[in-house]
Amino acid sequence: MEFQDFEFFKNQCLVGGQWLSNGQSVNVLNPASGEVLTQVPLFAEQETQQTITAAANALPGWRAQAANERAKYLKAWHQLLIKHSEQLAYLMSLEQGKPLAEALGEIKYAASYIEWFAEEARRVYGQTIPGHGRDKRIVVSHEPVGVCAAITPWNFPAAMITRKVAPALAAGCTIIVKPALETPLTALALAALAQQAGIPDGVFNVITGNAEPIGETLTASTVVRKLSFTGSTPVGAKLMAACAPTVKKISLELGGNAPFIVFEDADINLAVEELIKSKFRNAGQTCICANRIYVQQGIYQHFSKLLAARVAELNVGVGTEPSTDIGPLISESAVQKVEQQLADGVEKGGQVIIGGKRHALGGTWFEPTVLINACEDMLCAKQETFGPMAPLFSFENEEQVIAEANNTEFGLAAYLFSNNVNVITRVSEALEYGMVGINTGVISTAVAPFGGIKASGSGREGSHFGIDEYTELKYLCYHISDQ
Ligand code: SIN
Repeated sequence: MEFQDFEFFKNQCLVGGQWLSNGQSVNVLNPASGEVLTQVPLFAEQETQQTITAAANALPGWRAQAANERAKYLKAWHQLLIKHSEQLAYLMSLEQGKPLAEALGEIKYAASYIEWFAEEARRVYGQTIPGHGRDKRIVVSHEPVGVCAAITPWNFPAAMITRKVAPALAAGCTIIVKPALETPLTALALAALAQQAGIPDGVFNVITGNAEPIGETLTASTVVRKLSFTGSTPVGAKLMAACAPTVKKISLELGGNAPFIVFEDADINLAVEELIKSKFRNAGQTCICANRIYVQQGIYQHFSKLLAARVAELNVGVGTEPSTDIGPLISESAVQKVEQQLADGVEKGGQVIIGGKRHALGGTWFEPTVLINACEDMLCAKQETFGPMAPLFSFENEEQVIAEANNTEFGLAAYLFSNNVNVITRVSEALEYGMVGINTGVISTAVAPFGGIKASGSGREGSHFGIDEYTELKYLCYHISDQ
């Protein structure tokens, strides 16, 4: 079956329950072949305003539903994602390039946010607070923020949407999603399935188009009360400034520069395996990928050899081929960034022990690469690589590695491998990061609060904290008379 025949395939925008185009469109490309998959509309200011109105019109009806009614819609949507997971994964792999197994994993991960927040919808508990006088009673409740907007990235075309949309809908908000232009088809497919699940018109809208006109209209609107963004730090900072005049609530999940620290007493084989998962997931294109790998001196050589041997086993290819471990990068500029960091690393004394260049397949494939003798003045120590290159730094002691790991403006994820509970406790407490993986390279789950500090953003997604991002507190102060 061709992907165009999938029952959820759409190449129009969903606005107030209507599938719309506007006569202007942009190509959606397969990054593996450069082939045009289809075209999607290029919406701008006028269509964005129309969508804001649709979301505002749907708000009173949606927020008035009982929490368990909203939960039922979310559960139906979750079921549809699971039912169509194989086809959704195929579509995602086509437009994004990631291996099929990873795409399927992402669809299940995306679905898990919907399931989680369907359950959380019924647990948005308030509080009563002892009054400040004999005649006073205080009741606190959470109310939906209102119309929300989400701007989402291409690296996780499904999960970054559901972890914003599901809590928004569970809380009683309506939402407008603007997905990345590289990967709109997964977003539109999610919207088609939400519609099939019976989610009322206007509650969940998806519009495609250039970031500037849509972003400017959403951020300037007084009707939109919340913006959630996943993407780069410079864009996040711009959006934050654009939200200031209307004082919107905002959540930002931005860039990272994750240290991955391996102490001499660690289980080295485990550390290598977990590094492979963390570093090479999505060809290194995640914000929580291990970016700087710190290995203690005594095991540095052994660790490098084991890692190079494991990297040699990774299969580079087309994402939709079941044997592929590493797909193409999203764009030519993504490849150039890896090349630039690598050239800089080699010039400053680094040595490539495996990989190190564009892959023979051509296009935007890059060989999975290990660079040893990395040091703090290299670009790869300072910037997020967002590609399949693993630089190995060596360290002497705890104090040194903590200082180096924290020497970045970012604070999203960090990883630490040791079998000594004292080291684990001291180092994890000293790391200035929102998330720390201890003896694991896999920290993503709907049940934990995902997010960072410093230039990595603010707010949390997932877990019972995630729904708070879509509610406002209201307190009622009662005067109770004696009679
Ligand atoms: C990201 O870091 O880009 C998201 C990854 C995740 O949720 O696992």
